[in-house]
Amino acid sequence: MVGAKNSVLKLMAAALLAEGRTEVTNIPRILDVTIMSEVLRRLGCDVVADGDTLVIDVPAEPRTEADYDLVRQLRASICVLGPLLTRCGHVKVALPGGDAIGSRGLDMHIAGLERMGAEITNEHGFVIASVDRLRGADIVLEFPSVGATENIVTAAVLAKGTTVIDNAAREPEIVDICAMLSAMGAQIDGAGTSTIVVDGVDALRPVTHRTVGDRIVAGTWAFAAAMTRGDVTVRGADPAHLDVVLEKLASTGAEVTRYGTEGFRVAAADRPRAVDVVTLPYPGFPTDLLAPAIALGTVAEGASMVTENVFDARFMFVNELARLGADARTDGHHAVVRGKHVLSGAPVRATDIRAGAALVLAGLCADGVTEVADVHHIDRGYPDFVPQLESLGADVRRVTVPDVELPPAL
Ligand code: UD1
Repeated sequence: MVGAKNSVLKLMAAALLAEGRTEVTNIPRILDVTIMSEVLRRLGCDVVADGDTLVIDVPAEPRTEADYDLVRQLRASICVLGPLLTRCGHVKVALPGGDAIGSRGLDMHIAGLERMGAEITNEHGFVIASVDRLRGADIVLEFPSVGATENIVTAAVLAKGTTVIDNAAREPEIVDICAMLSAMGAQIDGAGTSTIVVDGVDALRPVTHRTVGDRIVAGTWAFAAAMTRGDVTVRGADPAHLDVVLEKLASTGAEVTRYGTEGFRVAAADRPRAVDVVTLPYPGFPTDLLAPAIALGTVAEGASMVTENVFDARFMFVNELARLGADARTDGHHAVVRGKHVLSGAPVRATDIRAGAALVLAGLCADGVTEVADVHHIDRGYPDFVPQLESLGADVRRVTVPDVELPPAL
């Protein structure tokens, strides 16, 4: 399994914390890595892809301004905020755009950095922050935000004193970035738990770090198997990172086999049974697998209730599923899905990364041809999606070419 999108982008930003040559390995060949590479180049870094390794050479004095034209394409570029502020004492980052999946505030990022002594203003579409040197602080997050946890941890590693983050996010991607930071010389305890303690150090050194496998891509393949009565083996993703997901799939009737920490197999002989799904921060059911879960519900036996607790407006793509004949209704944070034996192929439009992948899976369960438009969304998160589907026996064809060259042709 390729490296996780939601980890690699943050590892790339964390490289800014140390002058010199950081190597991030197991990088996925996705559009977001191309965009993040450009963000780093504009900050003065030299970024070169070599196979599945990204070599990032960070200057002694990086530039500290990230422009809107790139940040709007990649919300995750906000993760340069913590590293640049703590290393350079100043940063100006455009307010992000990214997926249209709800209003995603930055209030917890900002409040956390302010507690550490930063002065932060919001001017002309930019977050502008400055400080002599950040100091350790006790920070309680209102919600275990992944991005806020990452920005605060990456800032705290070079702060003076100890930072304690309570109600921190526990995602495997947080554990991954903390592992890289620790290898760089940071002092971090509690990664993967709700309380992370960081003792600031004076400087960090560049390292080579392997990106954790992508549990969301792995989970998408698991849903693909369960929906299509298929048999898929995934290697290089730790099944422990998908505990709740694999349990759910077992409840649909699929046979789930785990191979230690190395991977898993999902095989389904029959039509899936409907299951209820509630998204929650890790270790709960991931919001990024909400769309495949709804897609499964559309062809399952029975009715399922799917509840989204992390983002607003993640149900936009349900209207697209309806074009395939799906019986799915939404009300606030809930969707009620009544499964059908078969869907009916039609033109649909991807509205975000996961919705795009889920619509393709639904298309595999539909009579006739389904044409998915705006597949550039899928390029943002799924490397070689079409060839991988073909290798699993799916009848799928890409009509448009990617509009931006993907790594390793960086
Ligand atoms: C990351 C992932 C995304 C995943 C999400 C939750 C990346 C690039 N993206 O997004 O794929 O779906 O984690 O697992 O890693 N919030 C605030 N104020 C803040 C921060 C967040 O209100 O300061 C809210 C957001 O609006 C959202 C919720 O908290 O409703 C979760 O956000 P967060 O965990 O921060 O997600 P991201 O880091 O943006």
